[in-house]
Amino acid sequence: MPKAWIQERKRDYYYKKAKEEKYRSRAAYKLFEAVQKYHFIKHGNVVVDLGAAPGGWIQAARKIVGGKGFVLGVDIKPIEPFPQSNVRTITADITEQETIKQILQMLPRKADAVISDASPNISGIWEIDHARQIDLAQHALKIALETLRFPGNFYVKVFQGDLLNDFVQKMKKHFEIVRIVKPKASRAKSSEIFLLGMRLRMED
Ligand SMILES: C[S@@+](CC[C@H](N)C(=O)[O-])C[C@H]1O[C@@H](n2cnc3c(N)ncnc32)[C@H](O)[C@@H]1O
Repeated sequence: MPKAWIQERKRDYYYKKAKEEKYRSRAAYKLFEAVQKYHFIKHGNVVVDLGAAPGGWIQAARKIVGGKGFVLGVDIKPIEPFPQSNVRTITADITEQETIKQILQMLPRKADAVISDASPNISGIWEIDHARQIDLAQHALKIALETLRFPGNFYVKVFQGDLLNDFVQKMKKHFEIVRIVKPKASRAKSSEIFLLGMRLRMED
């Protein structure tokens, strides 16, 4: 079977599934798949979702945390509101220091998990896109370090490339376990991968 055809079918599969199951994006399945495998979000958890528009991950996270948890979505673009009272959203830039304060003000308590699917506009120039993606991931990590409680978890999108290793090493300083995750729902030809940091370390 030609590879391009298999890819196309897979893309359609998650796209159609998201439509049928009323998720705002096919990305929701990337989160479900990773959580099913690594259990980094649990029932009742407080979750911060960075780069959350249009809200597929927010919906997936809300389903996992249930009615007793809380999900805060943050994006530079406005996110259409959700009907559930334990799902809130803010329009903010995750590279701005002020955003950290805003997040802390909105949370009922410090977060159990910070997740980030934030992505820059893709230029098509690989080095630029990789560098911008790592920069967003660095900002997401900074937010995670200030908003997570112990032993919280952090899940972040990165692009493969030469800046990745330094970022993985940085994650290892802050989390007891660091894994590289490539969900099936993520297109195989995309250079997107996810890093999972589990169990935020206490500072020495
Ligand atoms: C791939 S989309 C996220 C999809 C989302 N996880 C979902 O399931 O619907 C990436 C998002 O990152 C957001 N983004 C990019 N740069 C940002 C920044 N500096 N601050 C906040 N959000 C940002 C974009 O606006 C975009 O909505």
